[in-house]
Amino acid sequence: MSGVDRRAVIGMAGAAGTGMLLAACGDSDSDSGSDTGSGSTGAATTAASTTAAAGGDVITKASDVPVGGGVITDTYVVTQPESGTYKAFSNVCTHQGCKVAEVADKVIKCNCHQSTFDITTGAPTGGPATKSLAETAVKESDGNIVTA
Ligand code: FES
Repeated sequence: MSGVDRRAVIGMAGAAGTGMLLAACGDSDSDSGSDTGSGSTGAATTAASTTAAAGGDVITKASDVPVGGGVITDTYVVTQPESGTYKAFSNVCTHQGCKVAEVADKVIKCNCHQSTFDITTGAPTGGPATKSLAETAVKESDGNIVTA
């Protein structure tokens, strides 16, 4: 009986602790916003800048992505439609889920049923696929293409 009571107390303490943490987060955010509006904005900007400075996940080297073409990684197909402009899309074909096979002639090609996708927008340009490849925002950072 006393064991059950302990578990109940621990469970309640855990639930209360979680609630307190959530409440603390909410209070902290609203407090900083109401106390110092400009300070809060600065903090948000700093947090965003820190994330940006961290550069997200490295997808590939920029030098591996040819202008007018692209490279296929384990997760993405990264293209460079124009010099210095990089795009990244899911490498999973929207037709039936094959991994796209190549990038050539300014299109991304899936060899399963010959769908093609625009290297700038990921929109289907031929074959049975009707939906665009999912895009992920990327940028160049220190010679790498990273998630933005
Ligand atoms: S799965 Fe890509 S064209 Fe069918």
